[in-house]
Amino acid sequence: MPKPFLRSVFACSWLLAGVAVADTPGAAIPVDHAEKIGEGIVAFLPQGMQDYPSSLALARAPVAQGAVPAGWSISPRYEREGSGTRVTVTLPAGVDLYGTGEATGPLRRNGQQITLWNTDNFEYGRDGGKQLYQSHPWVLGVRPDGSAFGVLFDSTWRASLSTGKDIVFSSTGPAMPVIVIDRVSPQAVMEGLAELTGNMPLPPRWALGYQQSRWSYTPDSRVLEVADEFRRRQIPADVIWMDIDYMDGFRVFTFDAKTFPDPSRLNRELHERGFHSVWMIDPGVKFDPGYKVYDSGTAQNVWVKDAHGQDYHGEVWPGPVSYPDFTRPETRQWWSGLYRDFMAKGVDGVWNDMNEPSVFKVPSMTMPDDNWHRGGGELAPGPHLQYHNVYGMLMTRATRDGIQAAHPDRRPFVLTRANFIGGQRYAATWTGDNTSTWAHLKVSIPMSINLGLSGQPFSGPDIGGFSGVATPELWANWIAVGAFYPFSRGHTIKAEQQKEPWAFGPAVEHTAKLAIERRYRLLPYLYTLFRQASLSGLPVMQPVFFADPRDARLRGEEQAFLLGSDLLVVPAWAQQPALPDGIWHKVSLVDGDTVDADQAALKVRGGAILPLGRVVQNTTQESLDPLTLLVSLDQLGQAQGELYEDAGDGYGYRQGDYRLTRYRAQRQGDAVKLSVVGREGSRQLPPREIVVQVVTDDGVYTAQGPEDAVTVPLPPGHS
Ligand code: NOJ
Repeated sequence: MPKPFLRSVFACSWLLAGVAVADTPGAAIPVDHAEKIGEGIVAFLPQGMQDYPSSLALARAPVAQGAVPAGWSISPRYEREGSGTRVTVTLPAGVDLYGTGEATGPLRRNGQQITLWNTDNFEYGRDGGKQLYQSHPWVLGVRPDGSAFGVLFDSTWRASLSTGKDIVFSSTGPAMPVIVIDRVSPQAVMEGLAELTGNMPLPPRWALGYQQSRWSYTPDSRVLEVADEFRRRQIPADVIWMDIDYMDGFRVFTFDAKTFPDPSRLNRELHERGFHSVWMIDPGVKFDPGYKVYDSGTAQNVWVKDAHGQDYHGEVWPGPVSYPDFTRPETRQWWSGLYRDFMAKGVDGVWNDMNEPSVFKVPSMTMPDDNWHRGGGELAPGPHLQYHNVYGMLMTRATRDGIQAAHPDRRPFVLTRANFIGGQRYAATWTGDNTSTWAHLKVSIPMSINLGLSGQPFSGPDIGGFSGVATPELWANWIAVGAFYPFSRGHTIKAEQQKEPWAFGPAVEHTAKLAIERRYRLLPYLYTLFRQASLSGLPVMQPVFFADPRDARLRGEEQAFLLGSDLLVVPAWAQQPALPDGIWHKVSLVDGDTVDADQAALKVRGGAILPLGRVVQNTTQESLDPLTLLVSLDQLGQAQGELYEDAGDGYGYRQGDYRLTRYRAQRQGDAVKLSVVGREGSRQLPPREIVVQVVTDDGVYTAQGPEDAVTVPLPPGHS
């Protein structure tokens, strides 16, 4: 039986004990005890902490597994700092740092300082973009030998995180547990982080398609026009987004009677066109006696209180609003319940915005630090200063529960702006209000990579930039790369400029069509990667140095990136990108993609087999007949790959209704033989044809046949 992480369990393994707690500022706080809680994972508790406290970051309570492994080298030092706590972790020489969540600036986080205080940061303008919408008190370190460690400061309080010679975490709160993972590689550390903070649940397959948004498509006829335009122009797309203007006076869970009189019909018509719909819900509930949601919330006393115990009112889109206190289980249940009727209108997914929470017309852009959250269940009552950073996360938890309860047989899709480490358990994310600038196109890549290196595999920016005018050249280059973000959505602010793929003229439309078609061909690979991420915690979008964590040249590469371990994406604008050694074959996925100057170069790792589908207009049409297997042989003339398939939605896969097929390609003389070397799952699939394409330096060689027996002849003497 696993043992809970209780003080009694530690009686024999305390590192330090019996040292008096000093309570003067700057005084050291001893580590009371440290314990192994997983393979290469140690938790440190500061003096005065009896048990591992309940944690919003962790997916489950840590289980004590014995003494700290011999030779353990990464440990926190605690000291008092004013009324808060400062934790220092001394770094070994030559370490490169990553993670730190959503942050502007370079991929490599050495020498950075950020504030962990979820902030509505329009254009990343506030505080030089050093404080954004999410908080991840987490740093990943990669040593020169490729081994790696990660440090998780398990505190929700406002904090700053600096990564100089040492990692310094300065929290406004009390001393917190610190968890250190130390393993052989950065990949293994990321798996460790998922063991602690949980995995992204497998999303519905439609959420992997291209998505089109604008603030706002209105009225409903305009939504259908946009949907029709995608189909007419044969540009693949899966999702249309409804921003705030569909609501009646910005009252959440309502629909404007004039512009969106029949949302059920709109959703039905979108579904008929092969589109899914995602609708926005903000946390601020209009202070409006007589409005059903406000009245029911008030009747159930759900609102956040001010320091005097009165309902707190802030101002957002609808004017004065009340904010649900999501620390209370009763409030979360009430909020979840609101989604029943909403989802019954055929809504497919929910977009939670403004949940830092954002408050207009106050300098802090959020509620006062001393507002009061009542907590309940595992959560103690506490001030906003303590719960601000998890407000969005707790909201999305309730949202996810609500839409899951409304549709028990479907996989929820929630997108959130604010979040906290571990929030991948509830929602995907986008990186907020960027601008239509080259700088923000370029920074979007390290931002999404570092989110992935902080436990959130499902992210992407507003393709094309949210605010400002995008030039045709910028938009073309953005979609050319944006087709490969894990979350791929074009969005824009309420302004004159249209930013759909066809809004910039035929040349840009052509580039967009090719880029999005490339994504759709890659969907079988992408879906397989998402499934792996949902099991292992490995990011979908990975830094190039993952290809060889020992190669110092790759550590700072932030223009190119990997999708999984097998596909390298090199933007057209990348200047002297540092690319991994070894065989990487450049590939074409759709006609014309390698001659279009704005497209990213795509390279497949030698030794990999990539499963590809046909170009389809949306994921409901996805057909793997024929399935294409793109083979890139290694030096030994071998390659391997896998394909995951299931119903694309629902939970049948948990009962075995999936098919995981492992393929192997082997060069034999002047031919390459493809075979199936493993199968998992009970999903029945009709026998199918596969097309095997062997990519070599001097061309692509193709053969077709039944899935488990295809031989591709190569020209005689081919090397
Ligand atoms: C702020 C969000 O960041 C943006 O994406 C959205 O369009 C606006 N709120 C309006 O809802």
